[in-house]
Amino acid sequence: MKVLGIAGSPRRGGNTDLLLAEALKCAAGKGAGVKTINVCDLDIAPCRHCDDCLETGDCSLDDDMQLVYREMEGADRVVLASPLFFMGITAQMKAMIDRCQALWARKYRLKRPPLGDLRRRKGIFIGVGGLRMADFKPAITTVKALFTSLDIGYAGELVFPGIDEKGAIAGHPGALKSACLAGQKLVED
Ligand SMILES: Cc1cc2nc3c(=O)[nH]c(=O)nc-3n(C[C@H](O)[C@H](O)[C@H](O)COP(=O)(O)O)c2cc1C
Repeated sequence: MKVLGIAGSPRRGGNTDLLLAEALKCAAGKGAGVKTINVCDLDIAPCRHCDDCLETGDCSLDDDMQLVYREMEGADRVVLASPLFFMGITAQMKAMIDRCQALWARKYRLKRPPLGDLRRRKGIFIGVGGLRMADFKPAITTVKALFTSLDIGYAGELVFPGIDEKGAIAGHPGALKSACLAGQKLVED
């Protein structure tokens, strides 16, 4: 069982990173192999809509997204984690998701498994927002669209509004515990 955590916050060691690290630590405690990538560390250009992928199922842009495709193909579980930036996921995470158009093409145009094989994959979304009334629906809609395209079953979300200062999530009663439980559940089911 391999779990891939994909973090989307440019604020390293911030709330998203803390939640994701806790979820993956607890997944590892259940025997899963875990790996984290932060898309902000990577060179991922935005999709150019060249449509090359509609013919090949591969993206012709040669950058760090090629590494992300490989990691996704090898994963059984995915934890996608991002803060809200202007209602949605961060630009860096969105660029990564848009580049999954090549995987969309494999599934819907080329009738191939988007991630190369037919294993049962599942994933969750972890989100934080600074506003007390933070609305996670736009972010969740984007993540669900991604998971549907990649044949990753959407197994739910863990979202925390009202978390703004760096590291504030550590003072939230129960947040890290919830992340731990979510990581465990993801690999047990
Ligand atoms: C550019 C920018 C846009 C933001 N937009 C929102 C927003 O729309 N809704 C919200 O609730 N918080 C918003 N926030 C606050 C962050 O989501 C919040 O500070 C979060 O805790 C950051 O998580 P991190 O520590 O993992 O980076 C925004 C922050 C920045 C820098």
